Amino acid sequence: MCVRVALAGVGNCASALVQGLYYYRSASKSATPATVRQRFAGYDLADIEVVAAFDVDPQKVGIDLSEAIFAPANCAAVVHRPPKSGVVVARGPLLDGLTPRIRKRLGVSNDEISDTVYAVLTDSRADVLVILLPSGAQAATHRYVEAALAAGIGIVNAIPVNIANNHEIAMRATEAKVPIIGDDIKSQIGATIVHKAIAELFPLRSALLKRTIQLDWAGDSDFENLVSEQRYELGKRASKTHPIIWNQPNRDEIEKYASLRSTTSGSCGTKRRLLSASRALCSGTCQFGSNLVFRFLMHSTRRV
Ligand SMILES: NC(=O)c1ccc[n+]([C@@H]2O[C@H](COP(=O)([O-])OP(=O)(O)OC[C@H]3O[C@@H](n4cnc5c(N)ncnc54)[C@H](O)[C@@H]3O)[C@@H](O)[C@H]2O)c1
Repeated sequence: MCVRVALAGVGNCASALVQGLYYYRSASKSATPATVRQRFAGYDLADIEVVAAFDVDPQKVGIDLSEAIFAPANCAAVVHRPPKSGVVVARGPLLDGLTPRIRKRLGVSNDEISDTVYAVLTDSRADVLVILLPSGAQAATHRYVEAALAAGIGIVNAIPVNIANNHEIAMRATEAKVPIIGDDIKSQIGATIVHKAIAELFPLRSALLKRTIQLDWAGDSDFENLVSEQRYELGKRASKTHPIIWNQPNRDEIEKYASLRSTTSGSCGTKRRLLSASRALCSGTCQFGSNLVFRFLMHSTRRV
């Protein structure tokens, strides 16, 4: 039996997901990291089939998923080219999916609103919808969730919009016997987990973390999208701050200083962003030699 998956958003995460699905299907055991399971709950990786996909970018809509995952502005590393899938990316409802700036750059007009989500989900007989829309796309996410609830299919919400944590939606999903997993995901070795690992070094070395900063250079269009202060607040603010400071003894004090400063953005690879607050202070330099930080990071990213 297959798990039939629909993707909302064919961006960089979708690209990594689709590449990984095909790559690890045929990879030998020794090439498969411990975090990737070839079999889970009786299902094999080969049982996962992507049967539908939505996007709004004219460079992705209307083409086969196997090509759309490599269309610009996607810049995820290319590790595996999957075979032609036969799944043509459908145009989704735009709503607040893209900032005006990105919309202009991609040539997406406001008029290009369509709502065939329910029809595509039911026609493709999808079992689960994986939401990979840009951060801060609240209205668009809710539109996809409504369609999935109406179609009676499961939802994996991989983005920082409250869906599984929304009481009303959770109640309706329970009633409809629709499982929801979420909200948001964390990259295996991304900025958040590295930041969290460094922050955790402070209490372990009896030092006090007073302020901390995450400065992201480069990144994908989701980072460009987060340069908008409002989208950052709606999207990543909580998931970029709380996991990092939650077990610091003075987390309320650190939180007080958390603020947003954004700088420039441009095409893929030139964006920078100052995500949260200020600078890190510690009580003694020898407590934090580079050797120690490096060893700790190696250890923590395995553990957390
Ligand atoms: N990259 C990571 O490591 C990471 C980690 C945790 C969470 N996330 C979350 O995953 C989400 C996706 O990240 P990404 O890096 O793939 O972003 P991305 O910008 O590369 O991809 C988003 C895709 O969604 C499309 N889109 C925009 N509005 C749409 C709509 N209304 N309907 C259908 N498609 C629409 C865009 O055209 C784009 O192709 C973000 O919300 C991000 O917060 C990413």
